[in-house]
Amino acid sequence: MPGALQDRAVLVTGATGGLGAAAAVACAEAGATVVLLGRRVAALNRVYDAARAVGPEPALYPLDLEGASPDDYDQLAQVLEREFGRLDGLLHCAAEFKGLTPLAHTDPADFARALHVDLTARWWLTQACLPLLAKSDLGAAVFVLDDPARTSGAFWGGYGLAQAAQAALIGMLQAELGEAGPRISGLRLGPMRTGLRARAYQANADTEARPPGEYAAACVELLSAAGMAWRGRVREVAAA
Ligand SMILES: NC(=O)c1ccc[n+]([C@@H]2O[C@H](COP(=O)([O-])OP(=O)(O)OC[C@H]3O[C@@H](n4cnc5c(N)ncnc54)[C@H](OP(=O)(O)O)[C@@H]3O)[C@@H](O)[C@H]2O)c1
Repeated sequence: MPGALQDRAVLVTGATGGLGAAAAVACAEAGATVVLLGRRVAALNRVYDAARAVGPEPALYPLDLEGASPDDYDQLAQVLEREFGRLDGLLHCAAEFKGLTPLAHTDPADFARALHVDLTARWWLTQACLPLLAKSDLGAAVFVLDDPARTSGAFWGGYGLAQAAQAALIGMLQAELGEAGPRISGLRLGPMRTGLRARAYQANADTEARPPGEYAAACVELLSAAGMAWRGRVREVAAA
């Protein structure tokens, strides 16, 4: 979608991940200045190079979502305000998932970590960015979600519970923000060949999963003006 995000500022979390990296490059290609949030600087630099090769100069924002506090997100929002004066898009791709584990045998800290990174941190970051998203005529927060039917089944633990909670959060938050507020949307994707998926399925037996790049255009579309119809709703995109 050339030009769909021209002169827009888009923050991508999990920018070093399978989908996050592909989506960040696709957003840059569509004209956006992407702010790449991740916890590994060397990997962020590689995504920076790929995005810079096709679009405006990106920005890096190293942050570990597990340890970040609301003050850290306020600080990030202040930096974005100083640099861009607003935020046009926030794409939540960061996700914590250790692997399929029975709840009874899940390490309590792992359970809390998954819920924190996959739900609370996403919300804290969104909350800090709401005033900046409200300053944009496009302002959208997009939560990338996994299949609720599969991930509310056995062994998906905190990651699965966070999928269901985010689906509720999207409707709840949009109802509170109203029609004039920033747009809150979900993007539910099919299985992708990424590190996360590999922790649940053996790669050589996983015939369903698609390369994450196949879903990058759907991220751009939902962040762009074409995504307006998905205000307060979850868009489901199956593999091509
Ligand atoms: N893969 C699938 O089959 C599938 C299907 C449907 C939906 N999804 C959704 O797609 C999105 C992206 O997942 P993916 O498949 O691309 O997974 P991925 O390749 O494992 O990427 C996850 C990203 O989250 C980052 N992350 C995890 N914990 C973090 C923390 N504490 N602080 C900062 N960053 C952290 C990882 O950073 P590091 O690189 O440092 O580890 C990585 O960049 C997720 O919302 C997931 O629910 C995935």
